Amino acid sequence: MKILVVYYSLDGNSRFAAEYAAGKLGADLLELKPENEPPRNALKFLVGGKSVIFGEKARLNRFKENPAEYDCIVLGSPVWAGRVTPAIREFVLEHPFEGKKVGIFACSAGGDAEQMIANLRGLLGGNEVVSTVSLKNPLKQKEECLARLDELCEALINNMKSDEEAL
Ligand SMILES: Cc1cc2nc3c(=O)[nH]c(=O)nc-3n(C[C@H](O)[C@H](O)[C@H](O)COP(=O)(O)O)c2cc1C
Repeated sequence: MKILVVYYSLDGNSRFAAEYAAGKLGADLLELKPENEPPRNALKFLVGGKSVIFGEKARLNRFKENPAEYDCIVLGSPVWAGRVTPAIREFVLEHPFEGKKVGIFACSAGGDAEQMIANLRGLLGGNEVVSTVSLKNPLKQKEECLARLDELCEALINNMKSDEEAL
C-alpha cells in the first residue's frame, strides 16, 4: 500500500504532525509551499484570514508526487478562520483523486476544527474518509498530539489491512 502525507504549514505545527505521521505510516511526504503565503508575523492573521474568506487561490509549488499513484492520502492543514487553508483546498481541487483511503488532521490554536474537516470532506467525494483528528497546538502539546496521530495512523492501517484480508 502506497501512502502519501500532504500538508501545508505556516508555523511548523502541521509539519511536525505530518513528519510524525509519515514516519509512522512509512509514507511519502509532500509539503505544499504556495508562492503567495502570508508573512510570518502578526499580519498573517489578516492576510491569511482574508485569503480564506475571499476564497483566494494558492499558487502551489511544483511537485513530483502524483496522488493517483497512491492508495491512501493523508491531508494535514492548519485551521484558518475555521476553514481549510487555500493550499490544501487548491491541492484537492487541482489534483483531484478518487477511490482513495483518506485521513485528515487539522491543527488549530484551540478552536473548533469541525467546520474545516467538513469543508474538506465536501471536496473529497469519491474517496473514503477513514479517520479525522483535530490537534490543538501540536508544538506545545506534543504528547497529546502524537497520541491522536497514533489513533489516526492505526485507523488507516487497520482499514487497509481489513480490505486486504477481504480479498
Ligand atoms: C490566518 C490564520 C487564521 C487562523 N484561524 C484560526 C482559527 O479559526 N481557529 C484556531 O483555533 N486557530 C486559528 N489559527 C491558528 C492556527 O490554526 C494554529 O496556530 C495552527 O496550529 C498553525 O499551524 P501551522 O503551524 O502548521 O501553520 C489561525 C492562524 C492563522 C495564521
